[in-house]
Amino acid sequence: MKNFFITGGAGYVGSHCAISLINNGYKPIILDNFSNSYQSTIKNLETITNKKITFYNVDIRDKKKLKSIMKKHSCYAVIHCAGSKSVFESVKKPIDYFDNNIGSTLSLLECMKESNVFKLIFSSSANLYNEKQILPLKETSKIGNTKNPYGNTKYIIERILMDLVKSDNRWSIRIARYFNPISNHSSGLIKENPIGIPNNLVPCIIKVAQKKIPLLKIFGKNYKTKDGTGIRDYIHVMDLAEGHVAMIKNNRLKKGLKIYNFGTGKGSSVLEVIKLFEKQTGIPISFKFTKRREGDVAASYCSPKKALKELNWKNKYDLKQAMMDIKKIL
Ligand code: WQD
Repeated sequence: MKNFFITGGAGYVGSHCAISLINNGYKPIILDNFSNSYQSTIKNLETITNKKITFYNVDIRDKKKLKSIMKKHSCYAVIHCAGSKSVFESVKKPIDYFDNNIGSTLSLLECMKESNVFKLIFSSSANLYNEKQILPLKETSKIGNTKNPYGNTKYIIERILMDLVKSDNRWSIRIARYFNPISNHSSGLIKENPIGIPNNLVPCIIKVAQKKIPLLKIFGKNYKTKDGTGIRDYIHVMDLAEGHVAMIKNNRLKKGLKIYNFGTGKGSSVLEVIKLFEKQTGIPISFKFTKRREGDVAASYCSPKKALKELNWKNKYDLKQAMMDIKKIL
């Protein structure tokens, strides 16, 4: 059975990847420092999969500890999800974001090389695409003028990986550009559960539904979109997890570097998401319009054609199913 280290494997995307790996006959080994996740997630994963999950409480910047862990297990590949991911927080703590996201990646790459592990999947983001790009966004669409430290770390790490693969042909690297991951496993036992105040739309809607915040602020209502609110490509996190497996299976993780967009190819507005949430859950969501949020684009959604053609992957769940699964965690 092939072992996969998942850095940040107790986090939102990492934990869902662990489920997909197990469902496809692979063995996840979770590495997480629990700075933005909970150890209880490991137990919940074991309940969902009925498998014992090996995990290590480790900060992957701790090279000594990481090397000793990697010596203990044969490893087919690493899925690198560990990293801070709040755009809002990154503006306030740029040094922390550069140290954590880039520092962790450099430490991981060094330890992988020393352990002769040269297969890596990197969790990147649609945040990299330049605004005013022609939609739908393709993997060849322009990237680079990211507007915040979070996006800059993702962009810089992608550049590091491209240089690495040029300099050393032992590496097999896949860059997964996530659009907007939402929802949770149908069991309702694991979910997006960031420590602290959420910034993303769906976790904020959930907080309103749970009466933890009084109302949702909608950032801007005069964008040139169907109803004036921002449009995004919301992908069910289980579809995203399956996308990671699609890059691995059938011996696809060959030498070189490839980039894939993971989204549905469909854009939904803030108001559409709210309405569908209310319809599927029966819970009304109070909101008020406020000014636009710094750095937001009007619309962003992808062309998922490359993943379909090369990986035979496309999303299975739509926004309605995503909202039905969210109902399980309310
Ligand atoms: C979606 C839409 C907001 C909150 C970011 C990162 C991306 C990824 C996902 C990590 C926008 C509107 C939001 C709210 C609102 N992060 N909104 N009120 O900004 O598209 O992407 O998160 O993987 O890399 O860039 O996602 O959910 O913050 O916003 O009106 O309280 O909802 O203006 O139109 P975003 P988001």
